[in-house]
Amino acid sequence: MTERRHAPHRRRTALAACGALLLGLLAGAKPGQAQERFSLYVPSPQSVAEAMAKMANVGKSDVVVDLGSGDGRIVTTAARLHGARGFGVDINPELVELASSIARKSGVGDRVSFMHQNVFDVDLRKATVVNMYLFPELMRLLRPKLLNELQPGTRIVSHDFGFGTWEPDEQLTFFAPDKFGGAGADARISLWIVPAKIEGFWNWSLPMGGQTMNYASIVEQRFQVGEGIVRVGNRRGNFTDLKLRGDQVSFGLRMTLDPGVSVLHEFRGTVKGGTIEGTVRVTADGGKAVDLPWRATRSTSTTYFQPTGLAVK
Ligand SMILES: C[S@@+](CC[C@H](N)C(=O)[O-])C[C@H]1O[C@@H](n2cnc3c(N)ncnc32)[C@H](O)[C@@H]1O
Repeated sequence: MTERRHAPHRRRTALAACGALLLGLLAGAKPGQAQERFSLYVPSPQSVAEAMAKMANVGKSDVVVDLGSGDGRIVTTAARLHGARGFGVDINPELVELASSIARKSGVGDRVSFMHQNVFDVDLRKATVVNMYLFPELMRLLRPKLLNELQPGTRIVSHDFGFGTWEPDEQLTFFAPDKFGGAGADARISLWIVPAKIEGFWNWSLPMGGQTMNYASIVEQRFQVGEGIVRVGNRRGNFTDLKLRGDQVSFGLRMTLDPGVSVLHEFRGTVKGGTIEGTVRVTADGGKAVDLPWRATRSTSTTYFQPTGLAVK
């Protein structure tokens, strides 16, 4: 892999050229082949397959999946170089045969398998790393399946294309001399870490100045970022910089608590279904930072947020 830093406009131009080349290949399809538009086979260069495994930090304990696996090189490379297990699926049965044969010849036939299956039908529950080199429309259609079926913390790696408004957690662009049959072109690989789901109501208590403060919050989530408001007694505050990386959540909160002291909170925790467990660093104005255990639980009740005096059915 030859890594190169390009000026952003040049990188965009090179990536646009890659996309145009792929779309140009598609344009060559006969009218009757329109339904096969998405099933075009263009292999990732070997340098890109290796870079994808590196970006996902693939190891022996991983189950690596390639959605639209072609000749199987993504999964076979992960098994050969990093000792992973895994499987690939492809809509084209000839490619499934080819991938199985290459895996056997590469000595990893006992750790990887390939199936003739549509990507939308794949059981993803065991996957820890999911790869794809698919058209953006197909990726966008797959997005809900991936977010709903994959465990928090699962790594998703894509070659060249993205998930629309779901921004990647990491991205790398480099020149791949072996791309497009040796023509050479820029390759962009992106990593997403599947976030835990924390949208909803969360409550917790903290000991503060000799008394127990009860916090009731509402969180709204958009993939790996979010926002939230919290109520403590009669006071309200806003979360800042709420981020998720797999099951790890962090956010800040500065609010004035009774009797009128401004307190900075820095929350960090692990989401475990209906609970979040971690620590909060609390710094009152003019005071020292103190780390406290933090345990939030999911609540179904919105009562605490209703304006007083209004009956809500
Ligand atoms: C661009 S190639 C990538 C091959 C391989 N992942 C790689 O990176 O070398 C896309 C592959 O996805 C397969 N494919 C497209 N749509 C599919 C679908 N709905 N279900 C399964 N495979 C699909 C195609 O047959 C093709 O082999």
